[in-house]
Amino acid sequence: MQKLIKTLISNCPEDTIQFAKDLSKNISYGSTIFMIGDLGSGKTTFTKGFASGLGYSNEVQSPTYPILNEYSHSNNFIYHFDLYRLKSVSEFLEIGGIEYLSNANGICIIEWPELIYNFDIKNKFNILFKMNNSDSSRTIEVYK
Ligand SMILES: Nc1ncnc2c1ncn2[C@@H]1O[C@H](COP(=O)(O)OP(=O)(O)O)[C@@H](O)[C@H]1O
Ligand SMILES: [Mg+2]
Repeated sequence: MQKLIKTLISNCPEDTIQFAKDLSKNISYGSTIFMIGDLGSGKTTFTKGFASGLGYSNEVQSPTYPILNEYSHSNNFIYHFDLYRLKSVSEFLEIGGIEYLSNANGICIIEWPELIYNFDIKNKFNILFKMNNSDSSRTIEVYK
């Protein structure tokens, strides 16, 4: 059972980016982040802030095509997955999913992780993104 460790009402993309930058200082390499939330709830925006907080200079793009974007910075990596188009766990295994998840020098940030939700993963965070009534308001909850 995971515990809620941080929560934010974000009122604009910049709030989400700043929150992700701050959080990035508290998440170590070897961790995995599952990002759960509807299309447009801010998962990719969060990833941009997270990567910039860790000093990655390349602009993060949405990884829908392909399924994985890899960013490197001084011998460390961010593996940004979007599993929306995967149809089975075996596809995840074929792209080397387990190797990425177990790389101690990498942080896996995974959009649409439902397919692998029950994997036994060390140092896993779940982040929930919820759209609120106002257009640009989101609630972000971090569970560890
Ligand atoms: N508070 C907010 N946090 C994050 N994105 C927001 C917010 N308010 C509006 N947006 C907009 O919502 C969209 C979020 O897109 P994106 O991060 O790609 O979402 P996802 O990856 O969850 O589909 C962007 O167009 C962004 O500008
Ligand atoms: Mg996205």
